[in-house]
Order: sequence, then C-alpha cells, then structure tokens
Amino acid sequence: MTPRKPEVLIPEAEVRSRVEALARQISEDYAAVDELLLVGVLKGAFIFLADLSRCLTIPRSIDFIAVSSYAHSSRTSGAVRLVMDLRTPIEGRHVLVVEDILETGYTLEYLVDVLAARKPASLKTCVLVRKQRRQKVQATVDYLGFEIPDVWVVGYGLDYAERNRTLPYIGVIEPDDRSA
Ligand code: IMP
Ligand code: MG
Repeated sequence: MTPRKPEVLIPEAEVRSRVEALARQISEDYAAVDELLLVGVLKGAFIFLADLSRCLTIPRSIDFIAVSSYAHSSRTSGAVRLVMDLRTPIEGRHVLVVEDILETGYTLEYLVDVLAARKPASLKTCVLVRKQRRQKVQATVDYLGFEIPDVWVVGYGLDYAERNRTLPYIGVIEPDDRSA
C-alpha cells in the first residue's frame, strides 16, 4: 500500500518566517562577535542549517557533526555515539549547535557535553522543533523554532526511515503509515 502524504503540521511559509525570526535574533545576539561557528547535526539539520545560515547577517562559518543513537537502546538508555566529528577545532570559538529536533534530549545533552569539553568561547543550541512532553533529560535550548505535540514529524530535513526529508513543510506521519 502506498503511504499517504504526510499531513501538514507547520506550513512552509510558517517555517520560513520562523527561521527568519530566529536568524534575526541570533544575528542581534552575536553582533559583537568576530565569527559564529554553526555546527549542523547530520543528517536532519541540513535544510534548517542551510536556510538559517543564509538569513544571518553576521560573519559565520559552518561545520557538521554526526551522531547516532545505539539501535534498540536509545529509547531506554539514551546511548549516543559520535559517527563523524567536526573538521575544525572549536577552542576559543563561538559555537551554535543547530539541531532538527529534540525529543528525549539525550542527543543534544551528549553533543553539548562533547563540545563543551573542547573549551569553546561560548556554546549555545538552536533547535527547530521540540516535543517537550517526551523530554527526559535537561538539555538547554537557547533558540527554539516550534514546540510540537508528541507526534512523528517529517520534512524540512526530518525523516522517517530516510523518507520525506525534502518535503518543504513539517508534516506528520500517521502511525498507520510508519510500517508501510
Ligand atoms: P533525542 O530523543 O532528543 O535524543 O532525539 C533523537 C533523534 O531522534 C533526533 O535527533 C532525531 O534524529 C530523531 N527523532 C526524534 N523524533 C523525531 C521525529 O518526530 N521525526 C524525525 N526524527 C525524530
Ligand atoms: Mg537528529
């Protein structure tokens, strides 16, 4: 059976205007800084990072990091592993982690621990969507796009089993379609 098209949760125009607003806020907050290093968390953040970085009005550079939750154990133990590290050292630099989604918070908590140990000048986080009701650990989000209910979202970089990442809006996958 062909899965249905994901239902629209946040339309494209709303995503765009929120991303622009976040970029304005970030540009203001970092106005006095020489350069901001945006660290995109692969794969999910690639579209958000592309749009956000192009709306910033401050000097910025970009690097990527990739993490993976241990299969089967992520929901219970929150074990996260680094699968691709940054290309550049971050000591003394202003770093903003750009992540697609915060669910339990384990991924962001892990990343912040790993990056903070490298002594950046500052370290903040920017997350497109948060499912606050599912959050299990304290992971500080400095810039948040949207608070969403406990549903599985796809599009704008987010996937379900690698599908639907390139939808222009943030959609919801019905539980029926997850096994399709
Ligand atoms: P965490 O539970 O906060 O550690 O989030 C773990 C990862 O699960 C996120 O970085 C996403 O890759 C993925 N994830 C959690 N919820 C969703 C969702 O609704 N759609 C797509 N990916 C999700
Ligand atoms: Mg992710």
